Amino acid sequence: MNNTFLKACRGEEVDYTPIWMMRQAGRYLPEYQKVRGKVTFLELCKNPELCVEVTLQPIDRFNMDAAILFSDILIPMEAMGADLEFHEGKGPIFPNTIREQADLDKLEVADPLEKTGFVMETIRLLRKELQVPLIGFAGAPFTCATYLIEGGSSKVFWETKKMMFTHPALFHELMEKITATTTKYLLAQAEAGAQALQLFDSWAGILAPGDFARYAQPYAKKIINELKATGLPLIYFANNGATLLDYSVATEADVIGLDWRINIGDAIKKVGNKAVQGNIDPFALLLPKDELRVRIQQLLKDAEGAFGHIFNLGHGIHQFTPPDQAKFVVDCVHEFSQR
Ligand code: CP3
Repeated sequence: MNNTFLKACRGEEVDYTPIWMMRQAGRYLPEYQKVRGKVTFLELCKNPELCVEVTLQPIDRFNMDAAILFSDILIPMEAMGADLEFHEGKGPIFPNTIREQADLDKLEVADPLEKTGFVMETIRLLRKELQVPLIGFAGAPFTCATYLIEGGSSKVFWETKKMMFTHPALFHELMEKITATTTKYLLAQAEAGAQALQLFDSWAGILAPGDFARYAQPYAKKIINELKATGLPLIYFANNGATLLDYSVATEADVIGLDWRINIGDAIKKVGNKAVQGNIDPFALLLPKDELRVRIQQLLKDAEGAFGHIFNLGHGIHQFTPPDQAKFVVDCVHEFSQR
């Protein structure tokens, strides 16, 4: 069993810097495309045997130090009663948006075993196969709320901010419901065998720091607080979060995920006695290998003072990344971080 990732999360001594990549299972891998050729994305998410297969693909191919459960942050939103569709090339769609009290009343706090038993089954199956730790995950409430309110992905988040600023009670009630669902969902993942848990706050960065502190961070913090009892390392990743870093640290997560827009050395000074995860620009994987190698070496050097460092990308790997570049990153990190 390779526990390097878990040790780094806890700030323990490691032989080398562990690495995994956000979205490491996905469309850039031809073996994933092959599985996806036979089923829709949602069918895949609900089929434990296929989820196990695609979760293992990057582990088998690259020697990653952690696996991440194959699923999606919107699966528990569907479990709450929101109709979810994925349209080719458009991403997720919620045709029935949540904008009024009557919409919200139709959503329920989902029972994770009854509604998302396939996720727990995937975790149980994966634990039998894996020689590296398994990361479970969920979306942070703010990010999930934007999808429900907007009805899908957005550029300006007009409807979300409109609700926040003109119907704050409704907004907070929605956040409470998502928070309750997410807490139960992650506790069930821990119970099923997840060995670390990550909250993805992909859209945190659209908020001013004061609004993040008021409308979003308290809910992430509440979940993290309730998950402490599991004893598992808890990771909080706020995308585009450089200006929110103090508040991210205040969530009391054990590991702070960093996107690529911040220098990791500067971030470490603020993060203090917590591990950091990140943070090379996913598009840097398009660089010629000699330049990519220099960037990796520099990042490892900048992170030397960290309480713990888990190497990762600053966001998900892009779907057109050549897999052999991902392999090169893993091999470089393992080679150049040997203690
Ligand atoms: O990291 C992993 O390998 C585990 C799997 C994983 C997926 N989605 C699979 C997926 C994880 C951790 C996620 C999280 C997720 N999903 C986030 C947070 C992380 C981030 O990227 O910010 C968000 C915002 C979503 C919602 C979502 N799901 C979107 C916006 C899309 C469309 C993306 C696109 O580029 O088209 C998805 C679909 C999705 N989730 C795919 C995968 C592999 C592609 C689906 C396909 O096969 O067609």
